Amino acid sequence: MIDIHCHILYGVDDGASDMSVSTAMIDRMADMGVTDIITTPHFRHHMFAYPQDLIMEAFNSLSEYASSKGITLYPGCEYHVSHDIFENLGNGRVHSLADTSYVLTEYSYSDSLDRIINYTQELVMRGWKPVIAHAERYEVFHRKPHLAEDVLDAGAMIQVNANSVLGLDGRAVKKASRKFLDLELVDFIASDAHDLGERASRLDECCAFIRKKYGEKTAHLLFEENARRILQDTP
Ligand SMILES: [Fe+2]
Repeated sequence: MIDIHCHILYGVDDGASDMSVSTAMIDRMADMGVTDIITTPHFRHHMFAYPQDLIMEAFNSLSEYASSKGITLYPGCEYHVSHDIFENLGNGRVHSLADTSYVLTEYSYSDSLDRIINYTQELVMRGWKPVIAHAERYEVFHRKPHLAEDVLDAGAMIQVNANSVLGLDGRAVKKASRKFLDLELVDFIASDAHDLGERASRLDECCAFIRKKYGEKTAHLLFEENARRILQDTP
């Protein structure tokens, strides 16, 4: 499996609190058969805007440990979208996903469909491939999950959290994630792991569920094949 959304780097957002938590999170991922992780610390104004050198210090210090466990780490970022995303991606203040043309974009849960679509279109126009982080959390899709099709039409891809599918993030979120799966709107399932507790990675459990309900081919696509396209920067 490949995880494209994970807060495994310590001390750079609300994810792993220190190095021992990061290494324990890596151990857990290795045990469940994860081979590649894109590390995606938050970038969000007035909340998370850590300097690149601090992020890369944590990244570099964990890369060797991860590789001893058979896991390759890649730099990345979960960008809480605002007007400066274009500039910050362009000048390298933040990493895209594995430094490719794919970008992990997050919105506020009450954001309008128009806002999501407008930013998606603008990113696509500038040559980026936006991935909507945990799309099942946005309220606009809770009552009308099929509206996610409009976001796909605008050129985005949809990432869903494993824990949402498993029902650990509330009923509305679970329902939306299941509806997206039924409608075949999902491109990636990722852990969005923050810790070893409530927000731990449960990719293995979710993959078993997907395999059982939607078949081996779908599980392979959502947990590995599509994510491999990000790492290779192919469409
Ligand atoms: Fe996240």
